[in-house]
Amino acid sequence: MSIADLARPEIRALAPYASARALADSAGILLNANENPWPPEGDGGLGLNRYPEPQPASLKGKLAAHYGIAVENLLLTRGSDEGIDLLTRAFVRPGADRVVTCPPCFGMYALSARIQGAELVEVPLRESEDGFEPDLEGLAAAGEAKLLFLCSPNNPTGDGLAAETVLDLARRRSGEGLVVIDEAYIEFSDRQSLASRVAQQPNLVVLRTLSKAFGLAGCRLGALIAHPEVVDLLRRIIPPYPLPTPAVAAAEATLEPEAVAARREQIDLLMDDKRRLVTALEGHESIRKVWPGEANFVLVRAADGPALVRDAAAAGIRLRDQSAQPGLADCVRITLGTPEENTAFIEFLQKWQA
Ligand SMILES: Cc1ncc(COP(=O)(O)O)c(C=O)c1O
Repeated sequence: MSIADLARPEIRALAPYASARALADSAGILLNANENPWPPEGDGGLGLNRYPEPQPASLKGKLAAHYGIAVENLLLTRGSDEGIDLLTRAFVRPGADRVVTCPPCFGMYALSARIQGAELVEVPLRESEDGFEPDLEGLAAAGEAKLLFLCSPNNPTGDGLAAETVLDLARRRSGEGLVVIDEAYIEFSDRQSLASRVAQQPNLVVLRTLSKAFGLAGCRLGALIAHPEVVDLLRRIIPPYPLPTPAVAAAEATLEPEAVAARREQIDLLMDDKRRLVTALEGHESIRKVWPGEANFVLVRAADGPALVRDAAAAGIRLRDQSAQPGLADCVRITLGTPEENTAFIEFLQKWQA
């Protein structure tokens, strides 16, 4: 059985739209795409009058090298959000297939599943002394599913998953569905990415993004790492020109070795300052519990979570209320800022009482 057999039959049968840029490169006199021959004012040499490369080869090569994978395992998307959406649309038959999530987790997995008309099975994480972990018996009992979404480090709990746990879940679900491991925050943790394991485990999909550690949330660039047959299927449904030229140019710049080294230093600075934030939170009488986690945020349970969010907002500081997530009543997620921003939050906290 091929991994493509798991996809919706109508997607397997689709011939991808053949765009002008996909049929011919952009060398020579370009009279094939109904573009304007003149670049706009202030173009800065980007050539914005031309459609971009559908999957820019240079950026793909650099990112594949950065992630330690082959280029054919990589699909560039408009953020991981689009990767989640493409997987759901390509593999899940409305009204017939199941998607499994492990809340509390990133909300787009469930939203994409619902939009697609999937049966959504939620197997909540188990809370233990050490944090939150997947309920392995619950996952085994969840039944066949086209997609199982996992996240490491998890948003919003910050817990990382052992590679063996993810690989074992993928092995058990071979021939039945894909196991998607979302590594949006992996650069902040000490864990190894599972990207290179995709080559041996065809139903494993890894999501990476340039939105977090690379500081490019405004560019909307995500990397979906999967078996080449999965990449090929998703290319049939991704719009013809998903990646804007300025976003690709910005990403190329951040992948220069000096820029990568500078980002690494910033991540170290962020994570060093996290200790100061965690200490301030742990010593606070209206904070009941602190989960430091492995990412660039901290989760806390406050005496009154919505009040913490509201009072911080009144002081000009935005936090994220997590109270609506299962098991996270009164919980608030606090993202690490610059040292000055963290100081401002700590000063607010010193004066705050629930
Ligand atoms: C776990 C997780 N996955 C994916 C995303 C979306 O990332 P992107 O900006 O690449 O769409 C987020 C954004 O917060 C996230 O927390």
